[in-house]
Amino acid sequence: MNVKFVKSVVKLLNKEVQDYINANLKADLHSLLLKKSPFPEVSMQEIVQQIKGKQVAEKKFPFLLKHGIIFPPQLNMEQSSSEKTALYKSQILKGKKFIDLTSGFGIDAYYLSQNFEEVTLIEQNTELLEIVEHNWTVLGRKARFINRKLEDFLNENQEHFDTVYLDPARRDQNKNKVFLLEDLSPNILEIHDNLLSISDQVIIKLSPLIDLKYLVSVLPNIFRIDIIALKNDVKEVVVFLSKENKNGIICNCVNLESEESTFSFTFGEEENAQSEYSEPEKFIYIPNNSILKAGIFNLISEKFQLKKLHSNTHLYTSSEKDEDFPGRVFEMEVIDSKKIKKKYQFNIISKNYPLKPEEIKKKYGLKDGGNNYLIFTQSKKGKIILKSV
Ligand SMILES: C[S@@+](CC[C@H](N)C(=O)[O-])C[C@H]1O[C@@H](n2cnc3c(N)ncnc32)[C@H](O)[C@@H]1O
Repeated sequence: MNVKFVKSVVKLLNKEVQDYINANLKADLHSLLLKKSPFPEVSMQEIVQQIKGKQVAEKKFPFLLKHGIIFPPQLNMEQSSSEKTALYKSQILKGKKFIDLTSGFGIDAYYLSQNFEEVTLIEQNTELLEIVEHNWTVLGRKARFINRKLEDFLNENQEHFDTVYLDPARRDQNKNKVFLLEDLSPNILEIHDNLLSISDQVIIKLSPLIDLKYLVSVLPNIFRIDIIALKNDVKEVVVFLSKENKNGIICNCVNLESEESTFSFTFGEEENAQSEYSEPEKFIYIPNNSILKAGIFNLISEKFQLKKLHSNTHLYTSSEKDEDFPGRVFEMEVIDSKKIKKKYQFNIISKNYPLKPEEIKKKYGLKDGGNNYLIFTQSKKGKIILKSV
């Protein structure tokens, strides 16, 4: 760690400065930035960066809410994984040597490397890596921190690793979001062969927007894909690669912090699956977003023996309730639109229906919320409205 960095850490960790940061955790940061710093040796920007860091940490990585932790600029925290998704990924990993080639703020590395004896972190951003090294010391974790471009490291590297992890940066030069493999930093397609030559297993975190068929077509060595949602919000698509020829690609649809169990299937199974169709029966099923992301619309019908309402409506139905379905299940009845009374309160869901929930709310004069649901959708017979009973 360089002297300048150590000095700035000492200043930020000064008791009065920390007390000021903690007293302003709920302050309006824009107004705070306009004020003069009460400490001649620490700027208001530096103080606000730490306050912002603690605010983000509270939601995203509470394990860092400890005395002595230093937070980087906001963009570095936005790019980090959350503690919860990192913890999920860590559960399956174990070995001797682990390397994270895109350390960033090191949240993934911290969790994923827990069950490894030797840990290496590569990061091109000097200040960021210094912060990570400092924080890991505070947390009592050891690693080798290498401040280099990973391509240069890979070109010279002679070591073999049990697991190589990458979470490529998904912003271009103009800070716009990108997600195709060749647009990421690093360009995964360029280093693909090199990665597989130094490791038994390569794990890459990708955008939830990435198309799975595209992924499988450009990365020939995938043996596993995890679609990870947190409270039904798809956060990550994680691919596992190995140079060993494994049989088929296992896909896992995960919804963390829900009661729903993981649904696993083999990539390609959807192609041979078929749905049966029906008008709504007693129960209506809405698959969770990790299932929808996987695009297994017929497979889910086949596996759970549920009937689909329409080829473009990803809603399913049955007369008996299936408690194991990875998604929401409602008991519902079809109703006539004339029976919808103004000012009634409903949660409105629109699926394969010409109007959005906001427009439906306006059209029928409904209020949002409450415990009852209305689903506006289409079955094979045409537009229908379903009401929870
Ligand atoms: C999305 S962030 C990683 C976040 C990390 N997984 C976490 O949980 O905190 C990606 C990081 O990769 C670094 N990076 C991108 N391209 C790189 C390269 N060619 N060599 C080294 N580091 C690189 C960026 O500087 C950035 O900090």
